[in-house]
Parts: sequence; structure tokens; C-alpha cells
Amino acid sequence: MLMNNWYVAAKSHEVNAEKPLIVRMLGQNFVLFRTPENKAVCLTNTCCHRGGSIGRGELDGSGRIACGYHGWKFNPQGQCVEIPALGKDTAIPRRARVDSYPVEEHFDWVWVFLGDLEEKERPAIPTTVFPEYHDKENWRVVSIEFDADVNWARGHENSLDSAHPAFVHSRFGRRSAPKVQIVPLVENAFGGHNATRERVPPKHKQVSKDIARLVSKKRGNTIASTDSYLAGISHRIDITREGNIRQVTVSARTPVDPCNTRIFMHQVRNYLMEEEHDEARLDGIRLAFREDYEAVASVEPKFVPRSMAHQLLVESDQLETAFRRVLFEKVKAGWEIDFEKLERDGRYRHFSIPSPARRKDPKNWVHPVVPTTFPRPD
Ligand code: FES
Ligand SMILES: [Fe+2]
Repeated sequence: MLMNNWYVAAKSHEVNAEKPLIVRMLGQNFVLFRTPENKAVCLTNTCCHRGGSIGRGELDGSGRIACGYHGWKFNPQGQCVEIPALGKDTAIPRRARVDSYPVEEHFDWVWVFLGDLEEKERPAIPTTVFPEYHDKENWRVVSIEFDADVNWARGHENSLDSAHPAFVHSRFGRRSAPKVQIVPLVENAFGGHNATRERVPPKHKQVSKDIARLVSKKRGNTIASTDSYLAGISHRIDITREGNIRQVTVSARTPVDPCNTRIFMHQVRNYLMEEEHDEARLDGIRLAFREDYEAVASVEPKFVPRSMAHQLLVESDQLETAFRRVLFEKVKAGWEIDFEKLERDGRYRHFSIPSPARRKDPKNWVHPVVPTTFPRPD
């Protein structure tokens, strides 16, 4: 799992100023809430006092949260401002603080930067790649989330993979036409790549009834344009069928821990725009998810191998290969949490994902920084 990246922590409407929300990401718990000014906040959930769950506590109406164990009160910057058991006039120790992470909201999702990079060094959130989401007149949105007990990188690779639909997807794969078009990969502005390919559409009898009414039996190829992005381990898949029938899916993939992933998805379409068609579209997404899940859950090893040579990636795996290169590069840059070491050492001490405030002041923290598989640059 990589730190120093943006992850979607929650849907915007789940985070409010009344009740804290505890979210697990990268094997750690975080607490999210809003200030009275509606600004979303994300703090480490583990209290620096005696490890209580801050998110079990209460918000005080002025953007501060009182830990659920002994009521230490933290401001949105993660600084403790009150220790009730010591009374009001006691000086607060400098180390009485927890990490507070940068937060942005896009596509009605709360994105949290789990790392300590300066703003300009952070991977860019792909905010500009989904104009359709905001164009309610021409596009109809459905949204869904999934939890899957699979590794995040394995899942992401599956989303980028153009060779599996012919064998895995009953509604849109064409078993008799499995050949993947080899195209030039284009680097995009968000730490990933695009591949735009033509593929033979599924048989007419494969598609759902409502789509079957829209497309002809002898229709032309489908164009599938897939982009992967580093921020949010997200992607965009833009499918154009004959007659400019289009659907665009944007998903983000949050590692809950090494073996569990939460997926946030929006899909927009420019056909069957009425609300009454939403449920059938969601059914199609659920079916595709189950088909993907069964394939991905069965792969071994559960994690992506650490060398290209440990599996036989071929030319049709273009986007997956490009993703592994990006992954390996970030691992070598010291972004990967050493989960095995953390599991061992974390039994006696809480380790925290470093926040940007640690760059300015690396000392005076109770919780040390999580270990990484490669050394981190100073
Ligand atoms: S553990 Fe949080 S206030 Fe004691
Ligand atoms: Fe799939």
C-alpha cells in the first residue's frame, strides 16, 4: 500500500459536523468530520494520550473533536487544545497532537492526502477528467460502492485489463473475438496512461433488454477509452457504442488494508436518461462487479509481484504493465508501507502515516511514522 497519495475516504454527504465518521484506509483508522464552516477534516483516529478512538467522541460545535476516552479536545490541525482531567489552566504539552491530513472534495467524494509531501509534489487529483458528471442535462448519473476482499493493486489492474471481458463478462465480452487491439499508450496528466481501443461488440442476445432495443444486431465496433490515474488509484472508462450511445465510469479504489479494498464509482450515460432505468444500470454494474470479483479473488499470489519477471505480461497487458512501472517507481521512492513490520511492531506502539506538518516539525510527536519497504528521502 502506498502512502503519499490521495484516497477517497467517503462520500461527501457521509461527513458532517454532528457525528464523526471513522474510516479505515491503508490499515489505519482515521476520523472525518466537518467544521461549522463546512470544511471536511481528517485526523488520525488513534489518540496520542492512551490510544483511544478519537472518533468515538463528540464534536463540540466549533470544529473541535473530543476523544471518546478521556475527552482530550483536538482542533482541525490535530493539536490538542484541552485536557479535561488537568483542568483549564494547564499548559498543553507540545506532543499532544495527532496527524491532520489535507482534504479536498471532488465528484461528491472526500479525498484525503495520506502523506507528508508538500502540495506541489502531490499527485494531482484528476478533477478535470469527468466533465460529464457535472452536466446533468446531458448525462444521467448512478453511483455505487463496493467492498471487496481483494488487494487494491490487483483490482486496479483488472479494471485496466482489456483481455478479460471476453472470458469474464457475460454482458459485454465477446468470446469469439478475444484479440486486443494494440495501440500506442498515451501518458496522461495524472500519473497514468490512456489506451483507446476498438473492440467487437457483444452478441445482441448478450446485452440487457433495454440496450438491445437501442442498438442494431449488425452494429459496428465499440470504442473503449481507458485512463488510469495515480491519485485515488482511480480510472475512467469511456465506452462509445454505435449511434453515439456512451457511458463513462469513474472509479476510485481505496485500500482498506492489504487484502481489502473499497471502491467508489460513478457511471454516467447519455441514453435511457430517465430515473426508471437507473436500477437496471446498477444491476448491470453489480453483475460486472461480481464477475470481476470472482476472477480477481482467485488470483495468486494475492499481491502484485515485485518484479516484471515474476509473471508473463504480454503486449495486450499494456496498461497493466504501465501501472506496474508506476507502482514500482513509487515503492522505490519509499512510498510503500511495510505492512509486515507494522503488524509486528504495531502491537506495542501505534505508528502513524506522516502528515505535512511533520515536514516542518519532525520532532515532538508521540506516534512514530509507519515503516516503509524502501528508505524514505529526507
Ligand atoms: S485516549 Fe484519548 S483522551 Fe485519553
Ligand atoms: Fe471486468
